[in-house]
Amino acid sequence: MKICSTAPGKVILFGEHFVVKGTPAIAGALSLRAKVCIEDCTSGIEVVSMNRGWSMKLGEFEPLQLRQFKRIIEYVVKEGYLSKVRNFRAYIWSKIPIGSGLGSSAATAVAFTTSLLEFHGVSYGANDVKRISLEAEREVHVNPSGIDNAIATYGGLILYRKGAVRRLKAKLPKESLLLIVDTGIERSTGSAVKYVLEMYEKHTSTFKYIYRAASSLINEALKAIREKDLVKLGELMQLNQGLLRTIGVSNLDIENIVYNAVRLGAFGAKITGAGMGGSVIVLTTRENYSTILEGLKPFAKRFIPAKIDPRGYVVSSSYAH
Ligand code: PMV
Repeated sequence: MKICSTAPGKVILFGEHFVVKGTPAIAGALSLRAKVCIEDCTSGIEVVSMNRGWSMKLGEFEPLQLRQFKRIIEYVVKEGYLSKVRNFRAYIWSKIPIGSGLGSSAATAVAFTTSLLEFHGVSYGANDVKRISLEAEREVHVNPSGIDNAIATYGGLILYRKGAVRRLKAKLPKESLLLIVDTGIERSTGSAVKYVLEMYEKHTSTFKYIYRAASSLINEALKAIREKDLVKLGELMQLNQGLLRTIGVSNLDIENIVYNAVRLGAFGAKITGAGMGGSVIVLTTRENYSTILEGLKPFAKRFIPAKIDPRGYVVSSSYAH
């Protein structure tokens, strides 16, 4: 028996970091996906990374790469989804760049969870997938808000707050395009989150105002999305970027990209994800994005013109990639 699932990466459009302390955030699923196929094998549990070219068996002492999978397996047993885990081999592919703030670990965790449950014939719903995959995120990040695995589960656009997901009916305007600009600087979400939380503790009374501003910005962004107002959305992205800079997760590389994107005609640009490197999203149009991409080449490593994918996890029995 074999079963495959895919799940999307994500962009946070508004509210990263602030979301960790319970402020709402808006995220969208990316058209880039991770895929996990599970098939029978004769002994043990084996994980094969098709991108990185390694293959490892689950044992008592796990290397870092296997910890998130082990945690999912232990959790589904502990929570009674499965009484006994069968032997299996899991193949993992991902088109989502790693360490770039695009939710690759959460997409892999969601695809792994759905393939694992399907392989064992368990009945489950999206809420179960979201809950189980959060366990894997806890292994990878310090204190994850849960937004990454929520968007990888549901797809489309969501409003996320403290574990609650509201799926948004509105879509970004057809003529719009999100250009993802990868700074090429790998960084750890865990340490960026830790830094911001430490700053919050140090400057609590001032930070409370910043978090309140981030919250008010979300209401305005929801309205701008509903009204398909790209100019306003771009301005709100600039404001959000200003707040992220204030809490200390921007740097010169990011600021150069944001500044030049707007100079080249983008509606707005901001960090997406933890910052301190990773990726920047640029809001532009299908017509204008190549001019912006050309102009930003000296400042970035990689560009991905992206769409919001309406699909969350998808299960199939085919290996086709
Ligand atoms: O950079 P990423 O994709 O790991 O996103 C992190 C988003 C944060 O808000 C900074 C942390 C979180 O858990 O929500």
